[in-house]
Amino acid sequence: MYAFASLVIVSCGGDSNAVDAKSDRSVQYFPNMYESVGYETYQEGDIFEGNVEAQLPVEGTVNRGWLPYEYANSNEGYASAKADLKNPLPYTEENLASGQELYNIYCAICHGTKGDGKGHLVKTEKILGVPSYADRDISQGSIYHVMYWGINYMGSYASQTSIEERWQIAHHVDALTRDLKGQDVQEFVTVEDVTSLDTHTEGHVVEDHSVEMHNEDSHDGDHDSQEENHSSTEGE
Ligand code: HEC
Repeated sequence: MYAFASLVIVSCGGDSNAVDAKSDRSVQYFPNMYESVGYETYQEGDIFEGNVEAQLPVEGTVNRGWLPYEYANSNEGYASAKADLKNPLPYTEENLASGQELYNIYCAICHGTKGDGKGHLVKTEKILGVPSYADRDISQGSIYHVMYWGINYMGSYASQTSIEERWQIAHHVDALTRDLKGQDVQEFVTVEDVTSLDTHTEGHVVEDHSVEMHNEDSHDGDHDSQEENHSSTEGE
């Protein structure tokens, strides 16, 4: 009986040694799967500036879908945006509806859903000095400008919203202002009008955004196909 037990122990010990020996392989299959041929992100390397692989993008590089905003955060910038900057998005029902939705998320808390300056934070006296849009001399350009840079107690919305979203909000703020001032409701642009508009407005913004969306889509596509590959190997 004892002899049998010791035999089991010995054989266990023998087994674990065997595992160690197994994990110490002297031959590597496809070594470049273990030791990457390409550079690793933060790897050191003499040929790189500062001896690190991770380098800054070339000066002047811009993100895809991002466009520089050329009006400065100053009184002059405000004045020229107000006078010259036009909304590149057609005034369609869809754009207005998205604008309203975004406005209610980001702006109504102070400005009120009607734009009369009676939002929740104003009513509960958490913030002062929120104007009714009717009391300000604003244009779509100036609305966009203040969303981009902020103004006094109002912060910037540049990081939360895309170019397209800001212009959709600008349409909605404009519509609210007209309503507050008792002006006529602006007519929606029809699909035929939009196509003729596209040819002579600076449609950069709209076009670029669609490029960005397209990329996101194709990226998703890649991702899906990777997942498919992955699961099919699992099945094997
Ligand atoms: C935290 C409260 C708050 C939020 C949220 C807010 N605003 Fe304002 N907004 C203000 C205040 C305060 C002013 C007055 C600033 C001033 O002129 O001193 C103002 C002014 C404005 C003006 C008039 C600026 C001018 O040219 O006279 C516009 C247009 C405007 N906001 C649009 C927006 C839009 C669009 C959003 C949402 C994306 C937004 N605001 C979100 C507080 C807010």
